[in-house]
Amino acid sequence: MLTDKHGRKLQDLRISVTDRCNFRCRYCMPREKFGAEHAFMPRRAFLSFEEIEKVVVACKELGLEKVRITGGEPLLRPNLPELIKRLSVLDLDIALTTNGSLLRNHAKGLAEAGLNRVTVSLDAIDQDIHSKMTDSKTSVESILDGIDAAIEFGLTPVKVNCVVQKGINETQVKKLVEHFRGTEVIVRFIEYMDVGRTNGWMLGQVIPSADLLKHLQKDFNLIPINPIATSDVAKRWIHSDGTGEIGVISSVSAPFCGDCVRARLSANGHLHTCLFASGGHDLRAIIHNSEDIETLISAIKAIWSRRDDKYSELRSSENSALPRIEMSYIGG
Ligand code: GTP
Ligand code: 5AD
Ligand code: SF4
Ligand code: SF4
Repeated sequence: MLTDKHGRKLQDLRISVTDRCNFRCRYCMPREKFGAEHAFMPRRAFLSFEEIEKVVVACKELGLEKVRITGGEPLLRPNLPELIKRLSVLDLDIALTTNGSLLRNHAKGLAEAGLNRVTVSLDAIDQDIHSKMTDSKTSVESILDGIDAAIEFGLTPVKVNCVVQKGINETQVKKLVEHFRGTEVIVRFIEYMDVGRTNGWMLGQVIPSADLLKHLQKDFNLIPINPIATSDVAKRWIHSDGTGEIGVISSVSAPFCGDCVRARLSANGHLHTCLFASGGHDLRAIIHNSEDIETLISAIKAIWSRRDDKYSELRSSENSALPRIEMSYIGG
């Protein structure tokens, strides 16, 4: 079984299918950095669906179990169900992370193509806070409708991701828990991370999950439950009266690099072995140079066996000064 330098397997591949997004979340793609003059990847540089499938088949040979389709906003990539259809025969768990704005229109097609489940980013229930955070005009109502569509078409369990920023949306945490209590939707609160180089991250803007939970315990009786897999990023909690589950993702206050089995593929075919990697490995060139899947398998094997990343555990002034890839290039 293939492992990296710290004994971690390659079990989970996150595939970005576009670096474009119709939102401009302040913590991910601030408009002043991702405006009209921003050079997105040329579309001709995108891996084709056939090429993405090749990478997935190669990773499957090396132990892959899960695939997550991300962006930017993945539903902006035309004909996405075609990719899902190709991947659905490979016997993997296939999930998709979306901002939810286009989900109502796509849920049926994605489900029919074989998508298993979706995760929807939603940072606020209050419209003004949502508009400010995402710098978009999309209504919260339409995103909630997208979530309903996902449930209708069986893309479950639906998870909701909320990035919590001090002074910006902490008032929304309780509202989100209340809103989804008694539904099957699992809301997870993510500590704001220093991904990329454009969001002006400061440690003071992070609310540690422990503080957030202490606050929530005043209003709800939450009980911790065991993770499904050791590599899961979220710590799970349930309402004591059986009305549902929430999660916290403590990427800053309690990093989980030790169990990190995730690789990330950018839309133009670069494989990144860490969310905070300075660069990737160009698989597109390898695919273009050789038809032979064995060549691709050997290349991925070599990359993974040299993997030494533990950014979040080593977070320091020294490593945080290095260049970093943007979240919108490699998804969440
Ligand atoms: P499932 O367990 O498959 O449902 O997915 P997940 O729990 O991994 O959820 P998701 O992919 O939605 O990840 C949630 C968030 O956790 C991401 O948006 C990131 O903010 C953060 N995250 C996920 N993976 C990593 C990682 O490898 N490193 C760090 N630092 N953060 C991560
Ligand atoms: N910190 C934490 N999470 C982030 N995401 C995007 N940028 C950040 C950040 N700086 C999350 C989004 C979405 C997923 C793709 O990544 O909320 O759920
Ligand atoms: Fe778009 Fe998601 Fe980034 Fe927001 S977090 S700008 S929705 S890719
Ligand atoms: Fe994995 Fe890198 Fe995140 Fe650590 S910081 S959990 S190694 S992606």
